Amino acid sequence: MTLKRFFFLSVLFFISSYFSCTRPTDEKEYRIGFSQAMSNDEWRHSMNNSMRLQASLYPQIDLHIANADYDVEKQIAQLKEFISDSVDIIIVSPIQSTPITPVVEEALNAGIPVLVVDRKTDNQKYTAYVGADNIEVGRNAAKIIVSNLQDSIGVVEIRGLKGSSPAEERSLGFHQVLDNFPKIKVLATLEGDWEKESITEGFRQLLLKTGPPDFVFAHNDRMAKGAWDVARNLGLEDRIKIIGVDGLHGPNGGIQLVIDGVLNATILYPTGGDEAINIALKILNNEVVPTNNILSTTVIDRFNADIMQNQFNKINEQKNLIEKQVSGIKRQEQLYYSQNNILKISLVLLLIILGLAIYSIYSKISIAKKNRQLELTNKKITVQRNQIEKIANEVKEVNEAKMNFFTGLSHEFKTPLTLIMSSIESLKDWDRQKGNTSGFEVELIQNNSNRLLRLINNLLDFRRVEDQQFNLRASKTNIYKFSNNIYKEFKGEAKKRGIKFNITTNNEDLDLFIDRNLIDKVYFNLLSNAFKFTPDNGKIVIEIHDNLDDSTVNIHFKDNGIGIPDNELRNVFTPFFKGSNNRKNSSGVGLHLSKQFIELHLGKIEVRSHHGTEFVITLFKGNTHFNEDQIVIDPELVDTPLNDFTEEIILDDNYLGQGTNNGEERYSILLIEDNRDLSYFLKNKLSVEYDIILSDGTDGVELAFENIPDIILCDVNLPDKNGFEICEILKDDLRTSHIPVIILTALGNKDSFIQGLQSGADLYLTKPFNFSILTQSIKSLLYNREKLRYYYTNNIHKIDQAQSFGSPEQLFVRQLNQYIKVNLDNTNFSVENLADSLNISRVQLYRKVKAMLGVSVSDYISNYRLEMSKSMLETTNLSISEIGYSTGFSSPNYFSTAFKSKYGVTPGAYKKSL
Ligand code: FRU
Repeated sequence: MTLKRFFFLSVLFFISSYFSCTRPTDEKEYRIGFSQAMSNDEWRHSMNNSMRLQASLYPQIDLHIANADYDVEKQIAQLKEFISDSVDIIIVSPIQSTPITPVVEEALNAGIPVLVVDRKTDNQKYTAYVGADNIEVGRNAAKIIVSNLQDSIGVVEIRGLKGSSPAEERSLGFHQVLDNFPKIKVLATLEGDWEKESITEGFRQLLLKTGPPDFVFAHNDRMAKGAWDVARNLGLEDRIKIIGVDGLHGPNGGIQLVIDGVLNATILYPTGGDEAINIALKILNNEVVPTNNILSTTVIDRFNADIMQNQFNKINEQKNLIEKQVSGIKRQEQLYYSQNNILKISLVLLLIILGLAIYSIYSKISIAKKNRQLELTNKKITVQRNQIEKIANEVKEVNEAKMNFFTGLSHEFKTPLTLIMSSIESLKDWDRQKGNTSGFEVELIQNNSNRLLRLINNLLDFRRVEDQQFNLRASKTNIYKFSNNIYKEFKGEAKKRGIKFNITTNNEDLDLFIDRNLIDKVYFNLLSNAFKFTPDNGKIVIEIHDNLDDSTVNIHFKDNGIGIPDNELRNVFTPFFKGSNNRKNSSGVGLHLSKQFIELHLGKIEVRSHHGTEFVITLFKGNTHFNEDQIVIDPELVDTPLNDFTEEIILDDNYLGQGTNNGEERYSILLIEDNRDLSYFLKNKLSVEYDIILSDGTDGVELAFENIPDIILCDVNLPDKNGFEICEILKDDLRTSHIPVIILTALGNKDSFIQGLQSGADLYLTKPFNFSILTQSIKSLLYNREKLRYYYTNNIHKIDQAQSFGSPEQLFVRQLNQYIKVNLDNTNFSVENLADSLNISRVQLYRKVKAMLGVSVSDYISNYRLEMSKSMLETTNLSISEIGYSTGFSSPNYFSTAFKSKYGVTPGAYKKSL
């Protein structure tokens, strides 16, 4: 159990027990059940009231009065209910004695004391009796008659209910006295039931029959009044003296009837209500009480009626007073209890608040404790997390290192491969020139080099895919032609191995937007696999199916090879997966890459295996599923096999332009390459046309500054500075910024390409490169250089006016021109002065100007002066000699000679011709 729950349960328990113990309750300690014979007359009302009043004085008494309503059965039932309810005491006023006797006994047997009031039971078996002595009542009535004794007296007795003890006893006492007086004759006895209606008719008949008696003794005042009413009706009231019983006070009571002269007398018959309660309480408190508690009775006649009335009135007043006091006390009690309860509630609330305060302090402490524990756990978790992170990083680093190792190794493979492939190419060229066909071994070397290259490329592509470095370059491609070209590449092998190899399509004209380079790799991977696992004389099919009713195309690659076990099918595209039935060597990245490449096209690739293997590629038609920057324009395919092993990125649109060599001097190439084999291979091949300066990478920059070559070929991975850094230094330097740089590298990824661009390289060729493309590129760059040179030399004075200069070359020419312009009229301005102003050596200036502008520096200065003078001739009215001096010629003659040798006319003739 939590402390919180314990606390609340305790508070609840406390509150409930607190209130249940101390709160006053309506339920008394003693339950008294009173079965009243009837409640229709004043005497019974008076009895009930005095009982209630008396009981109210004792808060521990719970008095329940049940009205039997003259119904004996009902009374029996009430008594039985009291018994079954186990009331503490029963009070009963029996309607009749006999029927009630057994129930009273039953109650006594059940251990419930029974107090009989007013009327008795037959056998007098009860705990106690309270009531007046009814025999005495009867005697008193008789004594009144006796005291009026004359010669003879006629008496009529009107009895109460037969079988009720008061009726029997009153009659008994009455007759006991009268029987001693023979002159007193009981003329008649009328049987009543205590109510006047029960005797009026009988009494009337009696009066009519026998005339008025001297006395009438009625067993109660109500029947006595009934007899008087009958006598009065007959006008006989004054002749009959009527005696009643009860002697109730109040307006309709017997005392008033005596005062009014209706009754001659009445015998006081007290109800005994209050005494009954007192005796019941004593019984309940186990006090000894007499069995018969007889209440005193007295005769009320015209002599004492007033006094009695007054006394009873006083008693009544006092009762009322007591009643008021009791209800006042009750109100006080209520007030006390409610205040007491408020006080207790306040106390409880105070306790609750106190408890809550203690609980909140406890909670705070335990929260703080838990927080501390949490902090500790957190710290532990952090430490563990850091450890895991560290381990993960270490694993990552190890993986990275492995990947770098494999990537580096793959790059390393590319350079020797370049050499091998270029050498084979040379061999084949040589054979071709001689008119020979290449030998089987040459083909074998070339095929296997290609294969090796593909494997290396797969490895490198895997890394690029992992790094998400592929940018899709989709171009419109006739898919049948494209597939057919690759088909042709494999046809030879198919033929050799007797494999039935076919390509089919339902739409030869279908164009798709694909990245040819990537899809080419997918085709090669799928076909290589098919050929690997298809036995000799097997069957391989490429089927291009244009789904004419939707926007997709399916390309199927089906073979009847060993197939893939069903449970392994879903793994074939996971990297490094190798089928359990695959006994051949494989890197396990080909299919993974194929899937990645197809997904880059937003297509999908699926595999099925049933009597062989079938790969199905699904691609979208059209190009709306690509972004604009993914769509490029590639030349239309020609019907020849693709040269798969060359990847080149040409920065200059004019790379196909023919290089120009003026035939007078050879261009020089600085080759910065640390691989000696490649270096010598290239030197051998290129030295046919160019002067080659070799650098192993350690002195590349220095050799470039020294020689100012026409073109630089530079590797990337070099011992000292890398190729990008060298390129950047050269492009930043005024002396070498004009020299085209070709980066030769095995790094075929986008980042390297961008790095190449940023370093200012003019061309970026990835190894292994096709030698003829290299020579073509060199020519193209030299040709462009010539075009630029032509532009500069023919726009000498325009260059310094143009505002949008940006490239270092343009800046150089502009600076050059500015220095010459400033010194235009300075005949002593020399090449040395110019080199000093540009902060480079005379030789470097010479080479730079020669390389860029194709003339010597002095010729350039001279040309500049002449161009300016020509322009002045055109735009000013200055004399020839003035123009000659102002453009730096030492004499007018020299100016004329120089002008004529450049423009074919003298300045004077030129001016005139304008
Ligand atoms: C009241 C009463 C009285 C009489 C008494 C006898 O119900 O009729 O008038 O004295 O009962 O039990």
